[in-house]
Amino acid sequence: MITLKKLENGFEYIEVENQSAHAKIALQGAHIFHFARHHERPILWLSQKSDFKKGVAIRGGVPICWPAFAKSNPDLPQHGFARTAMWTLGECQEIDAHTTEITLILRHNQERLKLWHYKFELCLSITISDQLTMALKTTNLDTRAMKLTQALHSYFDVGAISDVRIKGLDQKPYHDSLKDQEKVQEGDLFITKEVDVIYQKVDKRIQLITKDSILNIDNSGSSSLVVWNPWREKCKHTSGMSEGDYLQFVCIESANAREDFRIIPPGGTHILSATISKHRII
Ligand code: BG6
Repeated sequence: MITLKKLENGFEYIEVENQSAHAKIALQGAHIFHFARHHERPILWLSQKSDFKKGVAIRGGVPICWPAFAKSNPDLPQHGFARTAMWTLGECQEIDAHTTEITLILRHNQERLKLWHYKFELCLSITISDQLTMALKTTNLDTRAMKLTQALHSYFDVGAISDVRIKGLDQKPYHDSLKDQEKVQEGDLFITKEVDVIYQKVDKRIQLITKDSILNIDNSGSSSLVVWNPWREKCKHTSGMSEGDYLQFVCIESANAREDFRIIPPGGTHILSATISKHRII
């Protein structure tokens, strides 16, 4: 079932329920803020303090960072404007009892052209089944090539950060954004302090291993990956977060960031996609 719902303040979202999973997607930002398989804990983390307000990014779920990741374009707000813009609902389909597809679209308008001087169409296709697939397609409708950096900024609910092990990054070069240094990953990644890193040359499945599950993250149209956890101090000062929240989530962001920027010629397209699937250990 696909239902369009509204909070008391007018904030609109789509609720999807099928035989495999339950999801909620805000029209603002095309922001998936809930995804859970039936009888299981949510896969995506959502802050209890998160605002559902016009123009404010939801803290948790999957914000869409577009057309610039972080502050890579000084003329744009941090992570671009797509995560706070109002998207339009496109085609939605119940493919079978276990699979639902939702499409959301964002196009240039006068206000967006003032911030970013390109005509575009951005289309997010979300497939909800026992796994979650997000495919973000950028079409350049302008007469000049556009340079794009972007991310599917997924917040994963990990239960306890001390249990987290991230596999698939061994020997990958990365930029440590906290120290502004280039480094190489040795072995699996454990989160024991503030982490804000951008991996390059990522070419295989990433696994997020916690106490009771393994999440597989399979990306395409991407060779960079961001891992972020603000840890104790930054968490206190991050909007929409409560003290101690850093213990419950890690962001693993399927990206086109830093050296993995993309140039899209006039009329050209690029699709960044991620599929999240889960295996229970117990
Ligand atoms: C991550 C960045 O992607 O997003 C971090 O690497 C940033 O540097 C974090 O702090 C959260 O950003 P925001 O704008 O949602 O607070």
